[in-house]
Amino acid sequence: MLAQNRLAALVRSPFVRLAQLLEGIAPGLPAIDLSLGEPKALIPSFLGPILETHLAEFGRYPPIKGIPALRTAIGSWLGRRYPVLKGNVDGETQILPLNGSREGLFSAIFPAVARKAKLERPAVLIPNPFYQAYAAAAAAAGAVPELLPSRAEHDFLPELDQIDPSLLKRTVAFYLCTPSNPQGAVADRGYLARAIALARRHDFLLFADECYSEIYSETPPPGALETAYAETGSFANVVSFQSLSKRSGLPGLRSGFVAGDPTFIAAYLRFRNVACPQVPLPVQHVSVAAWGDEAHVEQGRALYRQNFAVADAILAGRYGYRRPPGSFFLWLNLAACGGGAAAAKTLWKGCGVKVLPGEYLAQAEPDGVNPGTDYIRVALVHNADVTREALTRIVATLG
Ligand SMILES: Cc1ncc(COP(=O)(O)O)c(C=O)c1O
Repeated sequence: MLAQNRLAALVRSPFVRLAQLLEGIAPGLPAIDLSLGEPKALIPSFLGPILETHLAEFGRYPPIKGIPALRTAIGSWLGRRYPVLKGNVDGETQILPLNGSREGLFSAIFPAVARKAKLERPAVLIPNPFYQAYAAAAAAAGAVPELLPSRAEHDFLPELDQIDPSLLKRTVAFYLCTPSNPQGAVADRGYLARAIALARRHDFLLFADECYSEIYSETPPPGALETAYAETGSFANVVSFQSLSKRSGLPGLRSGFVAGDPTFIAAYLRFRNVACPQVPLPVQHVSVAAWGDEAHVEQGRALYRQNFAVADAILAGRYGYRRPPGSFFLWLNLAACGGGAAAAKTLWKGCGVKVLPGEYLAQAEPDGVNPGTDYIRVALVHNADVTREALTRIVATLG
């Protein structure tokens, strides 16, 4: 019963809550949806022909481990993106394909809890605000989700040296999202190295959710695996989750991967073999091409850069706006407009712009304050014209 209550309290879809908030309210102008982080712009041209070539393979169950060509393509991509990893990630033992990163972020918690089976109240560290699947995973696996404040004054990242040592002792995994959803915060190498050292000292897994790593304006964000390898020549206790959803603008393809600590990957493979979805073979073939091509990724980045240039021009000096170092989200402070939920209603009713109240992405902390209450999350996933129209409407409506 307790577990059920915990699940109900923690796991509420932000989008269902948004639909409830706006129910019965007609949009003031033709709707523009900036609530969902769903890239809209570009379907890479190679996708169709490759699917066509491999259509018959929808008639076969795919191997959970993925085809060797996919694991090789992923390993090569890791080596190009993070040169220190070149030739150092073993596709046989250190990489598994995922049906999008979400199912991986969810299911990986089960072997993470199992590897420390003697703990009485296993804990899962989660930044607050957070991607909701982390808490769903912890609650479903019977672990205690422990929220780590991630405040503006600390660059929206959890303060590692503030984590209670008794909590670290019972930690099985730490979800670190970088670049982060919703604030676009990026953990630098020093931060990643400290997080990795902490994971090793207390023998928990660092689950680095890096699905926004390719969405940045200027500098490619550093990665958890490259940091682990550069510092120690090992991936022990470090696991990275990646996706083609954001990088390649293919959220509907459902393709990602997990890579890192080979001991954990082996346990996770055993678990996945009976409990998790395989990636369809035609999708695996498309994924080989997608990990092998950077041109379409750069096109996507160019689109987001244009959107941020529009945001710089329209939002500078308002709502605590700053261009985030990573991701395609704005995290705007609307305390002056009655908070995020009130502003979301005002915007929908006043000008048909749909945004997500920040409080739906966070939980109240021990002081009773939900750190998302003042904020809205705005996804800049449309083209620059739509973005300009939407942001202009926001300023006209909220002032
Ligand atoms: C932080 C974060 N992690 C993971 C995901 C899951 O993405 P996918 O399952 O499409 O790879 C998302 C999707 O929005 C996300 O925002």
